Amino acid sequence: MTKPIHWGILGPGRIARKFADGLKVLSGAKLLAVASRSLDRANQFGEEYHVPHRYGSYEALVQNPAVDVVYVATPHVAHHAHTLLCLNHRKAVLCEKPLAINTGQVRDMVELARQNGTFLMEGLWTRFLPSMQRVLDLVAEGAIGEVKSLQADFGFRAEFKPEGRLFNPALGGGSLLDIGIYPLFLATTLFGKPSRVKVLAHLGSTRVDEQCSVSLGYENGALATLHTTLLASTPTEAYLAGTRGGIRMHARWLAPTSFTLHQDGQEPVLIQPDPIGNGYQYEAEAVMQCLREGRTECPQMSHRDSLLLMEVMDWVREEAGIRYPEDGIGSG
Ligand SMILES: NC(=O)c1ccc[n+]([C@@H]2O[C@H](COP(=O)([O-])OP(=O)(O)OC[C@H]3O[C@@H](n4cnc5c(N)ncnc54)[C@H](OP(=O)(O)O)[C@@H]3O)[C@@H](O)[C@H]2O)c1
Repeated sequence: MTKPIHWGILGPGRIARKFADGLKVLSGAKLLAVASRSLDRANQFGEEYHVPHRYGSYEALVQNPAVDVVYVATPHVAHHAHTLLCLNHRKAVLCEKPLAINTGQVRDMVELARQNGTFLMEGLWTRFLPSMQRVLDLVAEGAIGEVKSLQADFGFRAEFKPEGRLFNPALGGGSLLDIGIYPLFLATTLFGKPSRVKVLAHLGSTRVDEQCSVSLGYENGALATLHTTLLASTPTEAYLAGTRGGIRMHARWLAPTSFTLHQDGQEPVLIQPDPIGNGYQYEAEAVMQCLREGRTECPQMSHRDSLLLMEVMDWVREEAGIRYPEDGIGSG
């Protein structure tokens, strides 16, 4: 029997709970340890998820030699420090999206992972969903010809809490880094690096982007039109238009969902991969496979993919004047 892989979680908040639920359906995964900045919160999470080792500091968890891989589930601004902490203790890392606040931070993380020969991956769960994989396979097979245009959005009405993660610049708030990353991920996955970027953003009272419209242009003439907002619910669909058809990814396209394949001259076909668990197990499964194969990065969400995604986000931010303290004085 294959040896189970022991997970640790840093930051037992909202997404950590969904991830822990995802792990439950994954054979070979054991949630061994959880760390919070407060021992009470670690214990509470530990009770809920039957986690044997509970710590009141992140530093304590990374010293547990039995932990193979750490899921970093803290707010964006903390990803850099917490990932470096894990990598410095030779722990493999699955870090929530966005991997960090800017490209400089992502480079630091990737460099340390490479130096130490330690696994690092951005937790962009959508990349690992069966529906997403089917769409990418169909595109690669040429089922809709050459993709020329992408429209994708992700918007919901978030309660305005100036101190909370979504609106607080000190916690990396704003729509782009939190949810706009999904449409941008789809665009970079399909088309690579854009040659042109145009942005319209609305910065609210806390000076974070409450909504953002982004147009990307590519050397081959492809265009992506993306929208993200924390102010209102939007359809949260994606449409990939190709020279011989199209794919409509139904709401919410970034989560486990269905899509319709349109091919010129044929009836549309609804494709609905079987849902298993809540979807978060697929990224965990990919990490575990990489660890078993001795890899230090994942081919489906490589270091290069994360760097490109962050470079494009930096470019969008520069165009829109979206800045964070982590960007340093005078830089943007
Ligand atoms: N993949 C997805 O579908 C998805 C969905 C939602 C969020 N996310 C990502 O997951 C990350 C966490 O999001 P979340 O909604 O789970 O956040 P959250 O519940 O607000 O916070 C997560 C945990 O981080 C810890 N933490 C460490 N430093 C902190 C600080 N300075 N301020 C506040 N909390 C701090 C806290 O735990 P302790 O204090 O107990 O240690 C907190 O419970 C974000 O980067 C987000 O982009 C991903």
